[in-house]
Amino acid sequence: MLSKKVTDCNAHGQDSSYFLGWEEYEKNPYHETKNPNGIIQMGLAENQLSFDLLETWLEKNPDATSFKKDDQSIFKDLALFQDYHGLPSFKNALARFMSDIRGNAITFDPNNLVLTAGATSANETLMFCVANPGDAFLVPTPYYPGFDRDLKWRTGAEIVPIQCSSSNSFKITKSALEDAYEQAQKKDLKVKGILVTNPSNPLGTTLTLHELDLLVNFISNKNIHLISDEVYSGTVFGSSNFISIMEVLKNKNLANTEVSKRVHIVYSLSKDLGLPGFRIGAIYSKNDDIVSAATKMSSFGLVSSQTQYLLSEMLSDQKFTSKYLWENRRRVKNRQETLVKGLLKAGIRCLSSNAGLFCWVDMRNLLSSNTFEGEMELWKKIVYDVRLNISPGSSCHCSEPGWFRVCFANMSDQTLTQAMKRVKSFVDFMSKKKNQSRHQPVLQNSARRTKSLPKWVFSLSLNQLEVGEQC
Ligand SMILES: Cc1ncc(COP(=O)(O)O)c(C=O)c1O
Repeated sequence: MLSKKVTDCNAHGQDSSYFLGWEEYEKNPYHETKNPNGIIQMGLAENQLSFDLLETWLEKNPDATSFKKDDQSIFKDLALFQDYHGLPSFKNALARFMSDIRGNAITFDPNNLVLTAGATSANETLMFCVANPGDAFLVPTPYYPGFDRDLKWRTGAEIVPIQCSSSNSFKITKSALEDAYEQAQKKDLKVKGILVTNPSNPLGTTLTLHELDLLVNFISNKNIHLISDEVYSGTVFGSSNFISIMEVLKNKNLANTEVSKRVHIVYSLSKDLGLPGFRIGAIYSKNDDIVSAATKMSSFGLVSSQTQYLLSEMLSDQKFTSKYLWENRRRVKNRQETLVKGLLKAGIRCLSSNAGLFCWVDMRNLLSSNTFEGEMELWKKIVYDVRLNISPGSSCHCSEPGWFRVCFANMSDQTLTQAMKRVKSFVDFMSKKKNQSRHQPVLQNSARRTKSLPKWVFSLSLNQLEVGEQC
């Protein structure tokens, strides 16, 4: 009785461990006083570090939320506005904000912007614009798990991974690009383009000029599209700078060429301003056909007019936005350093990062076997025993077991400290166990299992939980 789309709901990707971890968290969420033994959510790339700055701006600018301009009510205008081209004042302010983030090395023409309900909708809309069902996009691994839903589910497009490895810090190489292209052809899939996230989710790194050059050359030669998802472009805090794909085109004198019509940016205010609930996203493209089609498609996921109005006022306050970007970067950097140091204390290293709201964490030395089964076993221990929801690398299609994405900006300082304590107790316990098993005759499997868990739980309890409460 139902459509194929409904019966084929598994293609939505909700059954991945990335989303399952969220479900476990929902069942038993950590709270400092009300549920101190609960699961700490470290699987959500949310930025809660700078709300006070936004709230202070709102207090100082009450007209923005009370539908007033120059002391006159604009309630009726906003309530009736339904043009899918969006409010010109908002598009102007967003285009300028995007230029500011890129140090004004490039400017964005508001006429080339299409507003969408978040980057989720922007990515899907672009797929609808360039790929037919069964066509493929090449995506470097590890990648944001949501892409399995956003790029594939409703469009029928396919993702073919560009396999990147820890041997070169997961950088994109020419041979990895060529291999992925070949893989797609072997599967009889027509390659329509490449999608990258820059800065990367989950790596927390920006693409180098060399990688960006490779990508532009590759799509030029193969006559395909390049989508650059730049939702973390304002959340870059490290020394090596973020280079937008638009800057590369400009510097290669390709800004107004045929190639530039095949390069598209996705942006959103979900990460840099920490407003995922407002659903503000955008596509930037110099391809008139895509801008026109995507604008029509945006009817299915518009940004409400009062949200556009509020944000046009906020983003037009350039003094505020530059202060916000600076302070937010400083806070994100501090958090990232706290996480990196906390993990290092427990002997765990992260990939060196300079952006984003997460670190890419190397837990290969904690695996019982160098397999994805070993990774799942460790992930379950971390979710159920350590009570931290982090995302296993396999949910990001990482080709090597033992890597995890750990988010750090969706919680308080105290919660992060608590999480680091739990990790330290866990690793200490694991290494003690390893040493003991090295020096002791091998126990029967069942005996080992029954002995180790209460001991581990006890060691965690001593550090931060009421003794016995978990057992
Ligand atoms: C790389 C990337 N693209 C898109 C999204 C979706 O963003 P939005 O909330 O704007 O839909 C996310 C969210 O985590 C993301 O990390």
